[in-house]
Order: sequence, then C-alpha cells, then structure tokens
Amino acid sequence: MRVDQLSKHDQELITLARAARERAYAPYSKYKVGAALRTRGGQVFTGCNVENALYPLCTCAERTAVVKAVSEGQSEIEAVAVVTGNGGSPCGSCRQVIYEFSPTARVLMGDLEGNVRQMLITELLPDAFGPQDLPIE
Ligand code: THU
Repeated sequence: MRVDQLSKHDQELITLARAARERAYAPYSKYKVGAALRTRGGQVFTGCNVENALYPLCTCAERTAVVKAVSEGQSEIEAVAVVTGNGGSPCGSCRQVIYEFSPTARVLMGDLEGNVRQMLITELLPDAFGPQDLPIE
C-alpha cells in the first residue's frame, strides 16, 4: 500500500522513521535504516542503525528504538515503523526483541518511494520462542 493510505498516526511513524534513517551511522554497509515505534501509552521513540569498525558490534535501528523505549520505562509497543532504501523487513534478531515486549505489535515496512507493507510481529516470527516458554519460579 501507499503511505497516504495509512492512518495519520501510522503516517507520522513512517515520517519519523524516515527522519531517523538520516541519522544512521552506516559507513560500512551503506545500508541506512530508521525506526520509530509508538507505545500503547502514545509515546514515540526513534532509532537508527549504528555500525562499528568491529562489525559484530553493529546495532540495528529497531533495537536502538526498543532499547530507548524500555530504558525509559515504556515497553509496550503498539506499532513500529522501519524505513530503508528498499523496504526491507526487520532482521531475525530485531523480530525476536520486538516480540519479547509486544507479541501483538504491528510492523510497518516502508521504502523511500512511499510504499509500505504491514505485518504483525507474529506473522514475521511465527511460533516464536518468548517469555511464555520459560518456567515461572
Ligand atoms: N539493519 C538494521 O538496522 N535493521 C534490520 O532489521 C536489518 C539490518 C542494519 C544493520 C547494519 O547496520 C545494516 O543494516 C546492514 O545489515
């Protein structure tokens, strides 16, 4: 679908993710990613990918945003938008991290031409391993 077919709230998330993408530090891959999430309480947190000369230390945009939210005491994600140059979807690690806090989250994936796809985190990560699988003491 096109970005203008989204609700105003979701359009705002895409706009913020796109702006966050401009702040990406991606000198190695050159693949810039921006993310913006809205919590159930209506707060918005953004993130970008932050790479490192020691490649495995690269941090994805989605996890930057989730860590910012959780560290501010906001962990219930209603929706998260991810914007890349080609509309790519979140990596497996980011799917797992989003699921940890919000198994009902919606994920919007946008490109720079205004195309957007929407999926539930449970569609992106079916039969997920999560907090429910660990024994309660
Ligand atoms: N990247 C993200 O930020 N999010 C994803 O879900 C996929 C990959 C970043 C990590 C790295 O900086 C670059 O994109 C290439 O993998």
